[in-house]
Amino acid sequence: MTTSSTSIRTAVAGATGYAGAELTTILRRHPHAEVVAEYSSESFSVDALASSHAEVVFLATPNEVSAEIAPKILGLGMKVVDLSGAFRLRQAGLYPKWYGFAHEHPELLDEAAYGLTEWCNGELKKARLVANPGCYPTSILLALRPVAFLIDREQPVIIDAKSGVSGAGKKADVSYSFAELFGNFKAYGVGSHRHEPEIRQGLHLGEKATLVFVPHLLPTVRGILSTMHVGFTHSVNDEEIAEMYAKAYANAPFVKILEPGRLPELKDVVNTPRCDIGWRLLQGGRRAVIVSVIDNLLKGAASQAVQNFNRMYGFPETEGLQ
Ligand SMILES: NC(=O)c1ccc[n+]([C@@H]2O[C@H](COP(=O)([O-])OP(=O)(O)OC[C@H]3O[C@@H](n4cnc5c(N)ncnc54)[C@H](OP(=O)(O)O)[C@@H]3O)[C@@H](O)[C@H]2O)c1
Repeated sequence: MTTSSTSIRTAVAGATGYAGAELTTILRRHPHAEVVAEYSSESFSVDALASSHAEVVFLATPNEVSAEIAPKILGLGMKVVDLSGAFRLRQAGLYPKWYGFAHEHPELLDEAAYGLTEWCNGELKKARLVANPGCYPTSILLALRPVAFLIDREQPVIIDAKSGVSGAGKKADVSYSFAELFGNFKAYGVGSHRHEPEIRQGLHLGEKATLVFVPHLLPTVRGILSTMHVGFTHSVNDEEIAEMYAKAYANAPFVKILEPGRLPELKDVVNTPRCDIGWRLLQGGRRAVIVSVIDNLLKGAASQAVQNFNRMYGFPETEGLQ
């Protein structure tokens, strides 16, 4: 049982990265978390972690690193919230194609709770391992799930998504340099971005339905704006759509649904733990353009990880985040 004086011993691996630094900042001001250890690549070892006696370990590390160390950390009896993609996909067979490595622990893919917080029920309370969703999938699944049953799977689901450069982490790669990005805007990873199978999985699209996912790199530091084009099986009106969103997010403090016809902007959510969603109906309500925005480092990574932590331990979902 948690009380007002409960404090959970937490550790952060990857604390010197973009997502890990945000996470550590939030955990340090969280009334029920004590940050007992923070690691960079150089200071991390499983032995060091063992001696920290952390109860829960956040991994803000590259995919391959999380895939390797999470099973060892679970073996120490610690819980894991992994911000990477190492445990997000249910099918181990997808990892070589989309992530470039073979998954050694398919049993953990079955076990991991997919932490799209607003769509979790009791599973976070019981979880030993939480797979925090990807940043693009967070923005897309929160917007499409409430209307998913309306989507006509015979028509392509087209998603045009734009992310600030921090989405790629602190890379020393020329394509992420100031000279390449400033005053520029480009698509990348079309048909090969590793978030594509996660989006397909999260929408239960199956193998056949067409998903077109086009990520873009915005010449800004943080924020994701996803524009989704969907056809519906029958006509709907604004009131019906508004009701579906209101029902889905009645108890979701970090999802804001805009009035019909209003579309959200990046500046509404940057530096906040929120996802804002708006839509416009087209063709007499047979189609919609839905737009969602998040801060990739917060709702797309660190603040969602803390929402999941709050749910795991029975703290109010907003604890440490307001
Ligand atoms: N950036 C985002 O918007 C975002 C959103 C959602 C999820 N994620 C995921 O979160 C994870 C971290 O992303 P990021 O953008 O914060 O990356 P990043 O800025 O590149 O940071 C990576 C972190 O991992 C550490 N690290 C690297 N190799 C390691 C190793 N072998 N052992 C232990 N630690 C190691 C790095 O330490 P050093 O400082 O010593 O190099 C650094 O602290 C990734 O899996 C990413 O996919 C990122």
